[in-house]
Amino acid sequence: GFDIAKLRGQTGLVTLDSGFGNTAAYQSAITFLDGEKGILRYRGYPIEQLAEKSTYLEVSYLLINGELPTAQQLEEFKGEIARHTLLHEDVKRFYDGFPKDAHPMAMLSSVVSALSTFYQDSHNPFDDRQVNLSTIRLLAKLPTIAAYAHKKALGQPFLYPDNNLGLVENFLRMTFAVPPEDYDVDPVVADALDKLFILHADHEQNCSTSTVRLVGSSQANLFASISAGINALWGPLHGGANSAVLEMLEAIQADGGDVDKFIREVKDKTSGVRLMGFGHRVYKNFDPRAKIIKQAAHDVLAKLGKGNDPLLEIALKLEEHALSDDYFVSRKLYPNVDFYTGIIYRAMGFPTEMFTVLFALGRLPGWIAHWREMIKDPSNRIGRPRQIYTGTEIRDYVALESR
Ligand code: ACO
Repeated sequence: GFDIAKLRGQTGLVTLDSGFGNTAAYQSAITFLDGEKGILRYRGYPIEQLAEKSTYLEVSYLLINGELPTAQQLEEFKGEIARHTLLHEDVKRFYDGFPKDAHPMAMLSSVVSALSTFYQDSHNPFDDRQVNLSTIRLLAKLPTIAAYAHKKALGQPFLYPDNNLGLVENFLRMTFAVPPEDYDVDPVVADALDKLFILHADHEQNCSTSTVRLVGSSQANLFASISAGINALWGPLHGGANSAVLEMLEAIQADGGDVDKFIREVKDKTSGVRLMGFGHRVYKNFDPRAKIIKQAAHDVLAKLGKGNDPLLEIALKLEEHALSDDYFVSRKLYPNVDFYTGIIYRAMGFPTEMFTVLFALGRLPGWIAHWREMIKDPSNRIGRPRQIYTGTEIRDYVALESR
């Protein structure tokens, strides 16, 4: 309902593209994604190879620096991270102020935002040394911040990081160890979590990464930009979907496990119910990550002795039904990365509220890589979309007594 000729005359051509479905805002050399063919590559390396052969920290290095590290570079990178895992004692006091039932994503974004008050020596986006320092600080401290959010909810003491352990092992220990009991990290859980982090590490211009870029385009510091990304990830249509999937599976189980009934409800558009963990803006074919995660769900559950998890049964049935149902087939709705992750996280012992926090830990190197790429790009301008105004025409102010 707008006059395109008038618009052109006034402002030049403005494209209305709801949800930016067809708008490329950036050029990027980090991640290649072909949604029709179901292809995902980080810096040219197929996701399948990285998930099988690499590690989360190696992939973090790759995303951020563009190349796989040499053995020496990897050792140095790990060492730098290990030296920065501790939180300032005053940071811990933030948790005292949060209510016990605070959502861990809210704690995560708040504490990351607060890091910019503690590390004012690494705010300058154009100083490479400062950017490298804030990169290391974020990679090292986010697992500690996340583990403390979990401990806060339980009312258990916070554990200092043990830097003899790797990043994932350290995170598991800080999350699950309850002093003075001994705690041994289960290598099955650590390997599976490392793989899940790799699969979540980047996904080009998704909602949270675009948010990190948009905030960073104003030259806000890296901590401030990442905190915004964490908030964007929280929503149920993005990272929050992994919690929503589990809640959906539990609701179906509580309702007698009637998958047909649930699918009918989803297909009834008036219900407002979606099959969570299905569909993707870009993938119109199998999400390659979902294929790997489905297999991992079987392996991990079997290794943890939880192979007959009724929720896995329900998920498998849902997938089978959806993939042979015209509603889903015609809309090209396939399982996405989040469809099976919740089942694995639950088997590892994480409560549902923590699932999206785990996504944030995985996605962090991708956010950082995109922020750094943008800052270095000479064509970078502040992100500032246009709009199509649909409000009233000019009108005169009416005095209060005359309204
Ligand atoms: N269940 C039922 N119907 C769906 C679903 C779903 N999960 N997803 C899409 N549809 C339908 C829509 O109702 C719409 O139907 P219509 O054409 O008859 O109106 C059509 O498929 C297209 O859907 P859109 O909402 O336009 O697709 P969009 O690209 O905007 O949304 C999204 C993608 C948000 C992922 C969507 O598929 C969804 O809500 N999925 C469930 C939530 C989820 O799993 N999110 C995680 C995504 S992956 C990630 O962020 C890690």
